Amino acid sequence: MVMNSKKFWYLFFCNILLLAPFVCCKNHGNAANDLLDIINKNRTSQKLPELSPAPGLGCIALQYAEQCMTNCTSNNTIHCEPPEDDFTEVFAPNCGVELPTFGTISGYILGCQQKYLQPPEAFSNVLVQGQKALPLMRNRTYTEAGVGIIGRHKHKGPYIWCVLFSNSQRNTTFVLEDLGKGIEQKRGCYSGTSLPCSGGYKNSAVVKYIWMVLLLVLNFKFL
Ligand SMILES: *[C@@H]1O[C@H](CO)[C@@H](O)[C@H](O)[C@H]1NC(C)=O
Ligand SMILES: *[C@@H]1O[C@H](CO)[C@@H](O)[C@H](O)[C@H]1NC(C)=O
Ligand SMILES: *[C@@H]1O[C@H](CO)[C@@H](O)[C@H](O)[C@H]1NC(C)=O
Ligand SMILES: *[C@@H]1O[C@H](CO)[C@@H](O)[C@H](O)[C@H]1NC(C)=O
Ligand SMILES: *[C@@H]1O[C@H](CO)[C@@H](O)[C@H](O)[C@H]1NC(C)=O
Repeated sequence: MVMNSKKFWYLFFCNILLLAPFVCCKNHGNAANDLLDIINKNRTSQKLPELSPAPGLGCIALQYAEQCMTNCTSNNTIHCEPPEDDFTEVFAPNCGVELPTFGTISGYILGCQQKYLQPPEAFSNVLVQGQKALPLMRNRTYTEAGVGIIGRHKHKGPYIWCVLFSNSQRNTTFVLEDLGKGIEQKRGCYSGTSLPCSGGYKNSAVVKYIWMVLLLVLNFKFL
């Protein structure tokens, strides 16, 4: 196979351009983890202990958000309090949280927005709204937190953000069955896992896939 140098450089630069999305942005694809990082940075700046990312609690936060998908108003306010029994009778079993390890949920923040916001904007524009949220997330007694994010329609809003806080003992509460794997979530994403966000949510994996196909087509065309 002979390639002249003009062709080589053309291909070389095209590949670099197309590869950019893979290398430029260090995005592990889980906005719920990013949001918990932001909350923790905000806490440590106040010399407060970091919150452990309990995946079981994160999954319950996502279930909570999912239950409230229809409750976001056009002016981005949300009021939604599922019955208390739902936490142990619906959310925990749906997540594969071992019931005897169900701890105390001592606080929550629920926010919504018609359009998708990146985690830093979601933190300041959705979560830290009103006067109660900031003191709540800076409560010294909290030990663990879980974040869940979901969009009502595929790739369309409104988006619901839910943060649950617990002051139960770290690592021994909200334990997931099956050696911590729990049950596969199909929509949205939650903190404490390395799983990317999916369906009903901005799906960067799809974008990367399309890019990958483009890249292959381009290379085949020129080789
Ligand atoms: C913590 O969050 C509050 C509210 O958004 C903000 O005013 C403050 O600057 C944040 N602190 C840090 C260190 O990011
Ligand atoms: C937001 O919308 C709800 C219902 O649509 C309404 O009751 C409430 O007053 C509105 N709030 C603001 C701040 O506009
Ligand atoms: C959400 O809104 C629906 C109807 O708008 C209402 O029936 C339901 O009780 C709300 N859900 C919760 C958990 O508050
Ligand atoms: C912190 O959380 C605990 C447990 O939920 C609560 O009793 C306490 O009032 C909270 N403290 C503040 C400053 O909000
Ligand atoms: C909880 O687990 C994390 C990571 O698995 C670990 O870094 C941390 O020290 C543990 N905390 C306690 C109190 O055991």
